[in-house]
Amino acid sequence: MSAVPPPEILQPPPESAVPSRRKGTLLIVDDEDGPRQSLRVIFKDDYEILMASDGPAAIQLAQQHKIDVAVLDVRMAGMSGIEVLERLKYVAPALEVVMMTAFETTDTMRQALRLRACDYINKPFDVSTMRAAVANAMQRRTLEGEIHNNAEQLEHLLTELQDQKIEEQMAQTRGEIYASIIHDINGPLTVISGFVQLLNQRLGNATRLEVEDLEFIKDRLKTITRQVTNCIEISRRYLSFLRRHTDELPRVGLNQILTDLGHLARVHPGRQNHEFNVRLLPTDMAVHMNGTDLIQVLLNLTVNAFQCAPGAHSVDIEGQALDHPLDLTVFKDSPQDRLLNVENFQNLAPLLRVSVRDTGPGIPPEILPKIFQPYFSTKGARNGTGLGLNIVQRLIKEAKGALHVHTEIGRGTVFALYLPGVPLPPTASQNSR
Ligand SMILES: Nc1ncnc2c1ncn2[C@@H]1O[C@H](COP(=O)(O)OP(=O)(O)OP(=O)(O)O)[C@@H](O)[C@H]1O
Ligand SMILES: [Mg+2]
Repeated sequence: MSAVPPPEILQPPPESAVPSRRKGTLLIVDDEDGPRQSLRVIFKDDYEILMASDGPAAIQLAQQHKIDVAVLDVRMAGMSGIEVLERLKYVAPALEVVMMTAFETTDTMRQALRLRACDYINKPFDVSTMRAAVANAMQRRTLEGEIHNNAEQLEHLLTELQDQKIEEQMAQTRGEIYASIIHDINGPLTVISGFVQLLNQRLGNATRLEVEDLEFIKDRLKTITRQVTNCIEISRRYLSFLRRHTDELPRVGLNQILTDLGHLARVHPGRQNHEFNVRLLPTDMAVHMNGTDLIQVLLNLTVNAFQCAPGAHSVDIEGQALDHPLDLTVFKDSPQDRLLNVENFQNLAPLLRVSVRDTGPGIPPEILPKIFQPYFSTKGARNGTGLGLNIVQRLIKEAKGALHVHTEIGRGTVFALYLPGVPLPPTASQNSR
């Protein structure tokens, strides 16, 4: 045993001072010089050799070098072989260790194997057995290295895939948002265009304006201004969504929205000669939702109700206040019913219910599950983008509301929107933000 303090680190011979990368590195740990040297002679042509004469020196080498296999004497003065094994595995978990034993108990050997020694050889060792044990350990090390590399590559690949998926999802969301802006702006634009045409007709041949002309023009201009503001609001809302910007909770009075909806829907080209009625809340209340969003939800539902059949039918909008939360167990999805956003729904009384009821043909059971999917439409590419209900669904989810659809073939459909009611905003303005 060499007892030279500090721990003696026996450096590799000069010819292997700069180990080439792919040759395995073998650490020989024995406190007796004889076995150390003979092991070096046996392996010097096959591996880069590092030698240590005690535990601390071995651990230091393992910290400084990438060692593949260690041949370790169990019985050493100072730190025992078992303890060195434990620490080596701690410093370099992938390191393979072949233990050299003289008269050890099975207990010691069991302990060594539990500490993940890969083999043990009796001392004095037989050269071919020792060669086979080290070669085997080197192979294990290479295989484990490969497995580790593959696992790392796989993980890298998975991360890349995940990144790409997120990128794609973001691009898709962005695409849907742009499409939604165009979809939503189309409604107010149609109204603006209709009003501008009316003004043109009225003004086209006039050489001078009568008082009632002026009143007519002022009235139409007010609507146009409102619709232009609406367009600006819509694009602002979506663009702020793209920037992930969140405003503080907005609040809007329901009756103001229902009144605006009435004005808008009456002049909408989809109205045709359908019967149309709006019934306000007996006592006005507000909801936590942006006014533009709520109008958009209700307008989409109303226009769908107008368009559900070409023949004249009636469309009724009604606001109601409920003084109790919904009993969600009553709402079962069925071929005639769908309840949306149950998971997110803030089911708190008082609840405000706004229903959009039509006496159209109803929704066939095979179509009902699809109506909220983006781009699903039965109206043909020229008449429907299939985005309306998808937008409705998204806005309701954001507002933590719920939407129930009940439909009966030949009798019509009711879309009922539920939102928690809150006191009116102090100014009772349309959009308090
Ligand atoms: N009240 C209704 N009665 C019968 N079917 C309806 C009703 N509302 C929606 N649908 C069905 O749901 C489909 C999807 O509606 P959605 O509003 O998403 O798209 P769209 O109205 O077809 O097109 P867009 O709203 O983009 O102009 C409609 O094409 C229609 O088949
Ligand atoms: Mg629609």
